[in-house]
Amino acid sequence: MSYQNKQIAEVAELLTQRVQALKDKHTILRAIELKALYDQIPTLPPAERGSFGKEVNALRAELQVLVEAGAAETQKLPPIDVTAPFDVNVPPLKRPRPVDARVGSIHPLMSELERILDIFARMGFAAVESRQLDDDYHMFETLNFPEGHPARDDYDTFMTTEGLIAPAHTSTMQHRVLKQYKANLLNDRAISVVIPGRVFRNEDLDARHEHTFYQLEGVYVDKNIHAGHLIATLKTFLQEYYEQELEVKTQPFYFPFTEPSFEFALSCPFCQKKGCNVCSYSGWIELLGCGLIHPNVLKMAGIDPKLYTGFAWGGGIDRLVMMKHDIEDIRHFESGRLDFLRQFS
Ligand code: DAH
Repeated sequence: MSYQNKQIAEVAELLTQRVQALKDKHTILRAIELKALYDQIPTLPPAERGSFGKEVNALRAELQVLVEAGAAETQKLPPIDVTAPFDVNVPPLKRPRPVDARVGSIHPLMSELERILDIFARMGFAAVESRQLDDDYHMFETLNFPEGHPARDDYDTFMTTEGLIAPAHTSTMQHRVLKQYKANLLNDRAISVVIPGRVFRNEDLDARHEHTFYQLEGVYVDKNIHAGHLIATLKTFLQEYYEQELEVKTQPFYFPFTEPSFEFALSCPFCQKKGCNVCSYSGWIELLGCGLIHPNVLKMAGIDPKLYTGFAWGGGIDRLVMMKHDIEDIRHFESGRLDFLRQFS
């Protein structure tokens, strides 16, 4: 705004600059320079008072607008870094010192996952991480759950308003992996991939159920693959992981993406089947779901089920780690509690 009166124009320039730097912008309305302009009004010749007074009021109104804009600005939430252990707007020297990385530790789920992947790598499996946001096509359709299929209800999870899905299992990756590694088959090599990943479910939370957990999926396809290969693979892995001989057994189950489908159990590695609280005194631990990949799943990925067969499994990583380290509540994993985490440093 331009002011006719030179003196008012000067004060206007001074105060509109000063207001930018003020934290409490309201104080600009009490600036002595502005007050001095008002005080001057009664001393002026009557002919000048009107126009001078009008311009001073206009200046005050202009400052008022700046004050309000500034207040609105500070009401906007400042950007935050949710991972920072302090308010990022605190000056550097006043910030609390973050915990030194040397007293931190790798999360037990991640260190155990390293071991698990290491065992599978030695067995010839590549590893592909799953996504934390996926779609209906990969979550259901490519896994032989047509729309409206009742088994979809077993995988109730979270969705974005745009219809993307926080995957309820790592099986969402099967279609991608089959397509990605399909060329192996033409070169007389098997598709053998494990897929670790974070999965989500709409659960009533308790010591055994968490909305966020980890799974490990496995996919193996070649000529003449049968359930014996599946059982031997899982048994070999579990014996390596628990460093002992184990017995395993399967029971019939149902999954839309395998035929036949099984529930897979191992003899309790903690009591050698004598009965303890880990296996609820049954001697057996039901661990995961598995089966022979349904022909429709292979077909959708462009693999001829008359030439190739395969097996797949998927199971919770949290569960394995809880048993191994005698962890009584699954919710510790996502809690971020240092007293829990420091036990693994
Ligand atoms: N995705 C299943 C679940 O989370 C587990 C599962 C079962 C995975 C059979 C598989 C499979 O790959 O073949 O309940």
